[in-house]
Amino acid sequence: MLGNFTYHNPTKLIFGTDAMAALSDELRAYGPVVQLVYGGGSIKRNGIYDQVMRALADAGKTVVEDAGVMPNPTVEKLREGVAIARENHVDLILAVGGGSCIDYAKGVAVSANLPESVDPWQKYWVDFDEPAADLEVIPVGSVLTMVGTGSEMNCGSVITNHETKMKVGHVFADVRVFPRFAVLNPEFTYTLPRYQMVAGIFDIMNHITEQYFSGTDDNTSDYLAEGLMRSLVAASRAAVRDPRDYEARSNIMWCATWALNTLIAMGKSTDWEVHMLGQAVGAHTDATHGMTLSAVALPYYRLVMPYGVEKFARFATNVWGVSPEGKSAEELAAAGLDAMETWMREIGCVMSTGELGVTEDMLEGIADSTLIMQGGYHPLSRDEVIEVFRASL
Ligand code: NZQ
Ligand code: ZN
Repeated sequence: MLGNFTYHNPTKLIFGTDAMAALSDELRAYGPVVQLVYGGGSIKRNGIYDQVMRALADAGKTVVEDAGVMPNPTVEKLREGVAIARENHVDLILAVGGGSCIDYAKGVAVSANLPESVDPWQKYWVDFDEPAADLEVIPVGSVLTMVGTGSEMNCGSVITNHETKMKVGHVFADVRVFPRFAVLNPEFTYTLPRYQMVAGIFDIMNHITEQYFSGTDDNTSDYLAEGLMRSLVAASRAAVRDPRDYEARSNIMWCATWALNTLIAMGKSTDWEVHMLGQAVGAHTDATHGMTLSAVALPYYRLVMPYGVEKFARFATNVWGVSPEGKSAEELAAAGLDAMETWMREIGCVMSTGELGVTEDMLEGIADSTLIMQGGYHPLSRDEVIEVFRASL
């Protein structure tokens, strides 16, 4: 049964091989000063930087560069970006990169006009406050180069604080935080290292399962989720065989956007515990987001499966095509998770946190960094958190 909800997503998507041609016209809608946010240099090596600079010049913009956004952007980098935005009175923040750049841009956008006395980390990522209605939120636009997070069409911003060992995502309720536009050219993802491509693919899968494994009602959102998962599995197999398969890469890009722009969460409860476990691993290791999820997902799902057997059985048949014949609901549910495991190994997911640098003596500390969610089939106890992490080693 669908509950009450309002769905409002203002992000304009410009998709396909010609998408960049629209950028300069998009830019004209904003004031003259653009903070150009990018990462460690991949956009310079693959030529995307030059294309973006041409569009900025065509639109007559003054560009303030803000480079060096690291994967899993930190609170220190966020403070640097806020200083740049304040000093230059920027009118638009253009993020060119993956989730890290876009999340960071959103963080700067909501923080730049706060009074100096307010600490953005405390306000937004500890207290989960929203920007005040009269606070100016700087508009954000994006050119996506790494597919997975869905940040191009959502209100999430994940920031890491190494000092407190917390990696926290704030999904803002304020629609001003959504990117105003996103340029989505699947060819821009061809230069991604295979490890990043696979991490992104599992991130997408997990965004969908986080929203799927909850509730016992018959819900349109779950059927949408199943369709997205089937498309993702097919496209990921093709992309792993040939990373330059446009059909596969474009389907993966589109799946990623719809997996996490809140559409498939409408009217239902959601879980997000795998992300909490993965983000805790990330806070202690700085490992690649999608791989922190793949390392913990199966031990978690196998632990909670008995509490939501019917949904796991449905996942087995509707997503993985497992035949229910001759199987109990439990056997069918287990076979679905086995099928997911086979696919994860086939595409090259990291299957253990040990590979990401986690050791037994770190487990208590990682458990301290893990937030417990209530929306899934079984909220974890402290002992169960440790059990999942131990099984993930
Ligand atoms: O920094 P550069 O040199 O650009 O290299 C990046 C980076 O090293 C590289 N890359 C990106 N596009 C490339 C490329 N290399 C070659 N060719 C290209 N076309 O890829 C590396 C990873 O990039 P990053 O942006 O860190 O990856 P991703 O998009 O997975 O973003 C991860 C961050 O997003 C957060 C994660 O926690 C993490 O901090 N998330 C954000 C969410 C949201 N906003 O809703 C939800 C997610 O669950 C996730 O938590
Ligand atoms: Zn994710």
